[in-house]
Amino acid sequence: MIEYADVVCGLAWGDEAKGKITSQLAASGEYDYVCRWAGGNNAGHTVYVDGQKYKTHLIPSGIFYGIKSVIGPGCVVNVKSFFEEIEYLNKHGFNTSLVKISPRAHVVTEEHITRDRKNQYQKLGTTAKGIGPCYSDKSKRTGIRVEDFDDFKSYIWDEKLSGRVLCEGAQGFWLDLDYGNYPFVTSSTTLPYAACSLGFAPQKIRRVYGAAKIYDTRSGLDPEFPETLLDDPELTKIGMLGQEYGVTTGRRRKVNWLNLSKLVQSVNISGCTDVIISKVDILKELNYFKIYYNKELIEFENLNQIKTYVLSTIKRNCELVERVIFSSSPKKI
Ligand code: IMP
Ligand code: MG
Repeated sequence: MIEYADVVCGLAWGDEAKGKITSQLAASGEYDYVCRWAGGNNAGHTVYVDGQKYKTHLIPSGIFYGIKSVIGPGCVVNVKSFFEEIEYLNKHGFNTSLVKISPRAHVVTEEHITRDRKNQYQKLGTTAKGIGPCYSDKSKRTGIRVEDFDDFKSYIWDEKLSGRVLCEGAQGFWLDLDYGNYPFVTSSTTLPYAACSLGFAPQKIRRVYGAAKIYDTRSGLDPEFPETLLDDPELTKIGMLGQEYGVTTGRRRKVNWLNLSKLVQSVNISGCTDVIISKVDILKELNYFKIYYNKELIEFENLNQIKTYVLSTIKRNCELVERVIFSSSPKKI
């Protein structure tokens, strides 16, 4: 039986430090499973374990804490990169026998990658990992599933979820296929309700931890984030100090002031009980305190003012939120 499921999700365009949050929750020892419900190796998760930095793309962060780590049926799996990740984790002494893949997950083929490179990479600024073509074959019902592949044998997931489950989101709210700025979106459902595809009822969701940043970033193309943002001196400084480069692609991310109106929307539709706003240290160090709210750019004098404004706006507009936490360290909440 499932006792409860907690969900970590992104509230923006990915890269909101979900890895840090999942990692800290997993380290508590509270969970029996850590699961991914969507996406593939387009994601990049950075976690710090005992002060050491690790990067993964596909395998859930539970693996760093000796917890069963499940790649769910809504995910897409690149076989080569999966086994490379297994090798990387083995090399660093983690027990990869805890990694499990749903037989219903879809396999990303070389042909998917070729199609992505050819048709979508330039036009949409995708990660060129074959994600869109793989999900489109899945929807067309012509895809290949993990169960059709021999390679995964010992990793096939043949049990049911039970106990306490932590669900690790990938990408973010505004990259969601339904909610994002279509077609500049990813091809999966990044919202927390989709975590139920792992095999539990919506009523089992206990807490929803939403990850955000005190400023916005966007990797990949999006008319809402014009290239001219890259020329803004203040935003450029934020990007440099905040190391806003893609974990997966190495691309420089476009930076903008936090759009608080959008954040309120993503917090509400995601159903967040907890909101964790990271990278506060970056604005503090640079002494830039600006956000957009209701299409207006508002400037504050100090960190305390901007924090108070964000906190009170969320408290006033988001009925389900119980806690808002500002984080100033890449290593912990
Ligand atoms: P795709 O998921 O590779 O098809 O890329 C679609 C869009 O989502 C592109 O704009 C990517 O830059 C963006 N994207 C996909 N995965 C991530 C991620 O993990 N972090 C940030 N952006 C992402
Ligand atoms: Mg990421």
